[in-house]
Amino acid sequence: MLFSPIQVGPFELKHRVVMPPLTRLRADPDDTASALMAEHYTQRASNGGLIIVESAMISIEARAYLGAPGLYDDRHVAGYKRIADGVHSKKGIVFAQLAHNGRASHVDMNGSVPPLGPSVVPLDATVLTPSGWTQVSPGRAATLDDIQRTIRDFRDAARRAFDAGMDGVELHAANGYLLDSFLQDGTNHRSDLYGGSVENRARILLETIHAVASLQGADRVGVRLSPSGEWNGISDSDPEETFGRIAEMLNRYGLAYLHVIEPRVNGDDDHADRTDRRPVASAFLRKHFDGVIIAAGGFDGVGAEAILEHGDADLVAFGRHFTSNPDLPERLRLGLPLTRYDRSAFWGGDARSYTDFLPWREDEAVAA
Ligand SMILES: Cc1cc2nc3c(=O)[nH]c(=O)nc-3n(C[C@H](O)[C@H](O)[C@H](O)COP(=O)(O)O)c2cc1C
Repeated sequence: MLFSPIQVGPFELKHRVVMPPLTRLRADPDDTASALMAEHYTQRASNGGLIIVESAMISIEARAYLGAPGLYDDRHVAGYKRIADGVHSKKGIVFAQLAHNGRASHVDMNGSVPPLGPSVVPLDATVLTPSGWTQVSPGRAATLDDIQRTIRDFRDAARRAFDAGMDGVELHAANGYLLDSFLQDGTNHRSDLYGGSVENRARILLETIHAVASLQGADRVGVRLSPSGEWNGISDSDPEETFGRIAEMLNRYGLAYLHVIEPRVNGDDDHADRTDRRPVASAFLRKHFDGVIIAAGGFDGVGAEAILEHGDADLVAFGRHFTSNPDLPERLRLGLPLTRYDRSAFWGGDARSYTDFLPWREDEAVAA
């Protein structure tokens, strides 16, 4: 089924192999997506295949990782246009993930303000600053003005993504970053309109969807959730209730898709021992969400076919495998071996282990 077509928003995809957002920290010093990044994404584009570009920062306050691209200034449009043009030249579809890193930030990265969260809940995590990997700074609780400004920043960043020719945007509401930290009650202790009930905790996400959908329609907007994630110190006292209700609320919009991270991965790491943890995300959310579901986390070709056959997801994202297999859809289609990824080059660096992985046939030729 991986190679059967599917409609995602206004797009007719030719296959169901998705490249999920993968932050690689290779943007230019002014946070413009670099020419090297455009080359990387163009290499991975395929006819009728969906690529979701790594997290773009929606504001200076949202920044946390040196080398992550921005969409917080009009000067960033050119870098994203290079990516859009490259992916489109191969008839691919490309979305931009938009993110606010929230509590997971540092004053040296975010314009010298205490990192924003729903509430002040200390976080033990590191981010990449000009001085190297550094413990995050103590945070502050968002005021109502902060929340409204953040929603506007998401909308303005989305506008820049569309100006650059991106086909759609994905809102990063996963992995413990700002939107996720509002959704879950381990980090959201507010008692105003943005805390307490699931409806209130979801309000910032829903208002952001509304604002972003006003630009080009909700069918060009995707949402990413990690209902079982623990990355960035996130937790919820009742994830089934919280995420089941959120998925139902998302039904109102007619989104392009819901992108779900399975519990067996945690952020960028394996949690293969946790496959039994509830809820098994896609299968669970399928019961609550009416639209297209992309499942991510620990998939190979066999696992991808299985989840599609079972009907728990409509598309499957392959993160780490896409880093080292630029022609991943073709390799999966032909059952070819996959090249092992190079974790040492994930965050920051140059072309090595970034744009120098070869498609299968060239690989073979080198080996011969
Ligand atoms: C190097 C790296 C960077 C990542 N960056 C992002 C990101 O920017 N946004 C996001 O939502 N997830 C990010 N993730 C998570 C991946 O999108 C994906 O969910 C995860 O790798 C699990 O899929 P996999 O088992 O196929 O690798 C990242 C993962 C890795 C390994």
